Amino acid sequence: MTTNIGVLVSGRGSNLQSIIDHVESGYLKKVKLSVVISDVKDAFALERAKMHGIDAVFIDPRAYASKMGFEEKIITTLKSYNVDLVLLAGYMRILGSEVIQTYRERIMNIHPALLPSFKGLHGPRQALEYGVKVAGCTVHFVDEGMDSGPIILQSCVPVKDNDTESTLASRILEQEHRIFPEAVKLFTEGKLKLDGRIVLRREN
Ligand code: GAR
Repeated sequence: MTTNIGVLVSGRGSNLQSIIDHVESGYLKKVKLSVVISDVKDAFALERAKMHGIDAVFIDPRAYASKMGFEEKIITTLKSYNVDLVLLAGYMRILGSEVIQTYRERIMNIHPALLPSFKGLHGPRQALEYGVKVAGCTVHFVDEGMDSGPIILQSCVPVKDNDTESTLASRILEQEHRIFPEAVKLFTEGKLKLDGRIVLRREN
């Protein structure tokens, strides 16, 4: 069975590109990138989607009186594409409970820090300012909290004495581009099982 994927983005879309590349290379099988939705009109991620023949939709948050109205539009759009799995690939809004309930355990986020450390914005900057010696990224299922859902995969990188926010962020980004497709692969192959908040790898 094909898994229809909807991707929510807000920016340049390098994680979206990595998913596209892994579909096109055949690493991700039985997967269709059905729609890319952005809350930012000129997000480069929308261009990337169009360049690969994927429907790209801008939903303007300012066109709705409430967050709920905006999110209902997201849900109806995802439903119209029969989306099974939602990826947050640099989507910079906190998802409301409506979307989370509709797609419970079927929404994954990539975060540029080793959760539960450094939630929210600017993961690499927070890591540098704290002085940790190891940083990294996390793919997790999305729940109602901020960056608090069950952890699927993590990858770590060293923090070097001469790192700037930008050098550390790009070292982490390389790992994001590796573990996000890997998490999608595990999901689409039915290899992820949740036991409370613990994600187990099903061997089949
Ligand atoms: C990525 O580093 C992603 O982990 C981060 O935004 C960047 C988006 O880059 N997401 C968050 O900070 C979410 N809290 P991209 O648009 O090139 O994929």
